[in-house]
Amino acid sequence: MCFIAVIMGNLLKKKKNRRQWHAIAGEPLTEMDKIIMAWENRGKLVPTRKLVKTPEQIEGIRRAGVLNTAVLDHVAEHIREGMSTEEINTLVHTFTVEHGGIPAPLNYEGFPKSVCTSINEVVCHGIPSEDEILEEGDIINVDVTTILGGYYADASRMFVIGKTTPEKQRLVDVARECLQIGIEACHPYCFVGDIGNAIARHAHKNGFTVVRDLCGHGVGNEFHEDPDIVHYGKKGSGMLLVPGMVFTIEPMVNMGDWHVFVDADDDWTVVTEDELPSAQWEHTLLMTETGVEILTY
Ligand code: MF3
Ligand code: CO
Ligand code: CO
Repeated sequence: MCFIAVIMGNLLKKKKNRRQWHAIAGEPLTEMDKIIMAWENRGKLVPTRKLVKTPEQIEGIRRAGVLNTAVLDHVAEHIREGMSTEEINTLVHTFTVEHGGIPAPLNYEGFPKSVCTSINEVVCHGIPSEDEILEEGDIINVDVTTILGGYYADASRMFVIGKTTPEKQRLVDVARECLQIGIEACHPYCFVGDIGNAIARHAHKNGFTVVRDLCGHGVGNEFHEDPDIVHYGKKGSGMLLVPGMVFTIEPMVNMGDWHVFVDADDDWTVVTEDELPSAQWEHTLLMTETGVEILTY
């Protein structure tokens, strides 16, 4: 029998939720420390210090963002009717590597390609394929994530192939507005729920729904970090967002019901349950002292 374990078990108090935010030992509390600790005392979810990027990390993520935007611009220049999604994959892969970057999706948790291409009823995580040809009227999300110098940036855009139906065009436009409105809801010391609330309101006002099973995320040092940026919810819910945090907003807006499923054939492709179209736009954002900066413009 272990003597120490018995003593510890008998004498030590247990505590479930340790503080997330710690002041730096030996240094006076900053204004930011005080605000975060006050919210934590009121029971709100606050970040850990690790989620607040250093100036050096921000610079690295900024550079990754510039390349990520150039990749998406490159796709925008070349995407056309008759092209396969495999060709989009080649465009993304070649351009990224030629500019010293690494396409983050490739081999990420077993993902087999360098970009996600999601057409019509595919919500996200579509896998590029030679057999998938872009047709007039298709709406496609191209989701690019780039690693440069060890830092990550993540953004996606919708492309309309030729001319589509007025309903699908409106879905694409409203999804873009949802991202914009989410960005406008961001200010230092806001909550994730403030963003989600604004996004869902706008989608619902337009007769659309918001996917609940997938969300935005912290990003920068890794592909997916805390916190979850959900695109619905109550104001004031979720994590407090403070200057120095980097995260994505990436609402998936559905024409029909919000429910989705994962294609059992590949374990990746996310499809709307009613197989009606879905649209998504994504940016990587930096919270600053005064507002929010888009790192993937
Ligand atoms: N880029 C997606 C996102 O916005 C994640 C894709 S994961 C992959 O979070 F493995 F499918 F690439
Ligand atoms: Co993405
Ligand atoms: Co993302």
